[in-house]
Amino acid sequence: MSAQRPRVFSGIQPSGSTHLGNYLGALRNWAVLQHEMDSVYCIVDLHALTLPKEPGEVRTGTINMARMLLAIGLDPEVSTIFVQSHVHQHAELGWLMQCLTGFGELRRMTQFKDKSDRLGGLSDGPSNNNASISAGLFTYPALQAADILLYDTDVVPVGDDQRQHVELTRDVALRMNSRFGEGTVVVPEHRIPPAGARVMNLQKPEDKMSKSVGSEAGTIEVLDEPKQIEKKIKRAVTDNDGEVRFDVQNKPGVSNLLSILGAATDADPATLADQYTQYGPLKADTAAAVIAMLQPVQDRYNALSESDVIDALAVGAAKAEEVAEVVMQRIIAAVGLLSPAQ
Ligand code: AMP
Ligand code: TRP
Repeated sequence: MSAQRPRVFSGIQPSGSTHLGNYLGALRNWAVLQHEMDSVYCIVDLHALTLPKEPGEVRTGTINMARMLLAIGLDPEVSTIFVQSHVHQHAELGWLMQCLTGFGELRRMTQFKDKSDRLGGLSDGPSNNNASISAGLFTYPALQAADILLYDTDVVPVGDDQRQHVELTRDVALRMNSRFGEGTVVVPEHRIPPAGARVMNLQKPEDKMSKSVGSEAGTIEVLDEPKQIEKKIKRAVTDNDGEVRFDVQNKPGVSNLLSILGAATDADPATLADQYTQYGPLKADTAAAVIAMLQPVQDRYNALSESDVIDALAVGAAKAEEVAEVVMQRIIAAVGLLSPAQ
């Protein structure tokens, strides 16, 4: 990794399958950025454990996600691609960050509220010990901050839903520098794409497309067959007024289709709206554009073997650890722990 170019870091969870929101909001941009910046991309398996998982589920998900990262065009010779648990400094700095992040700061995170509500919500009653809502789900943004700070990251490309977590990382990083000395950590910035930052569920366009919630019919998987993609887009919820207009507030379904078409064809959704008078042709064109965009990814995914993936991850972990260890030692020294005797 060269020290001159700005560094980019981002992470993706190995749970569920990769959907169009992941691709347009994050992965597609990672592939572009790897040629502009020193790029580090992490499969955050430790983050996946914050929600209940069957033994083995994360392992399989990690291999599939690594295969996906190579298929979307990440080049292991250009980027550092690795698994979070393979670089032990993530868990170590994760603990320090838990101690440096305020309970009140974590309590404001909307993703924790959403995810804990979906698991039944928190209550203080003695009969409800909320065992399925793990403490890790609550402290997760501190681990995410550790991921980012470990690589002296300048830029964090993410979808809009991660904005609050990256802002928290910035706040804590600024505080660390004023408390432990300037230069203790690099203060990162988020980069949210202008198009595709928030892909909505096709059946419930008020909700974001997500790995964990929402019907299958509302989620386009990157590996969906062309026929499935056509069917899902054809059945996407629109509205009754029949007018094609980009208006996220009042016409969320139609606007979502325009955003997807815009992101897939590199066009402005509001301008695209002028070209359509009916929903049918808009849906047909959106489906065709998504299929054409995903086809090369699917072809590459199918051509990769498990051993290609495992080899790439081993190289990635070694490269990542070299950087992480240096930064970890700098932070430990700044915080002021006793070093072990040599
Ligand atoms: P996750 O699936 O939560 O691990 O998210 C991986 C990346 O995909 C993050 O950068 C998210 O911000 C992004 N992402 C997830 N869902 C969406 C969505 N519906 N629209 C745009 N970006 C998304
Ligand atoms: N929390 C992110 C998500 O769910 C994943 C993530 C973990 C991440 N660590 C990160 C993203 C560091 C960017 C940088 O999408």
